[in-house]
Amino acid sequence: MAIKIAPSLMCANLLELRRDITELERAQADMLHIDVMDGHFVPNLALSFDVAEQISRCTAIPLDIHLMVDCPEDFIERVQRARPAYVSFHLESTVSPIRLVQRLKAPGIKVGLALNPSTPAEALEYLLDDIDYVLLMCVEPGYAGQRFIPKVLGKINTVRRMLDASDADKALEVDGNIDFEYARQCVASGASILVAGSSSVFRPGADLYTAYCDFRNHVSRLSQELV
Ligand code: DX5
Ligand code: ZN
Repeated sequence: MAIKIAPSLMCANLLELRRDITELERAQADMLHIDVMDGHFVPNLALSFDVAEQISRCTAIPLDIHLMVDCPEDFIERVQRARPAYVSFHLESTVSPIRLVQRLKAPGIKVGLALNPSTPAEALEYLLDDIDYVLLMCVEPGYAGQRFIPKVLGKINTVRRMLDASDADKALEVDGNIDFEYARQCVASGASILVAGSSSVFRPGADLYTAYCDFRNHVSRLSQELV
């Protein structure tokens, strides 16, 4: 499966968001990761549905919305209005995930389930047939720039095996401190979408276009090594 890179826009220059998206278009970024938080499920706020909708109107790059909110069922219409290619919500944020997956599904929208670092892979067991992909957090959700939790690597392996047994086309996204080295370890463990934040594509002081291309070349080499 080709590895995709999803630059995380909460790490962009928010005062120059249009410019950063243009640079990512020039670099032919695979998708744009948009973190939506509510200050309850996680103790922070990032991007909003309004921003996601505006971005969706101004670019052809597919959007990847990562909901970090309590009661995600309250936001179904807002998600659909932003027309993302991917949307994930946290298993820890709802008691009826199967119903929510069904309600979020719409033409062109893939629905994924996100798991916090301490949520075991087994929690996916009864959900795999319903979802299109899994997002594994490699840090506690809420902030960019945190440290990778190495125990998640074993879980990536386990979830990859579970997905392959269900449908090998289902993507496995990893999010949180995916730098060049952890990208290597995550891809070797079975990840297929890498969220690229402050330790790769948005490295402080780096030119965004060049940083994306460097990271993509690194990831392409990794994929070739693994063939
Ligand atoms: C954190 C967000 C991430 C964040 C990643 O909760 O979900 O998408 O932007 O940033 P880094 O890669 O710096 O951890
Ligand atoms: Zn995210």
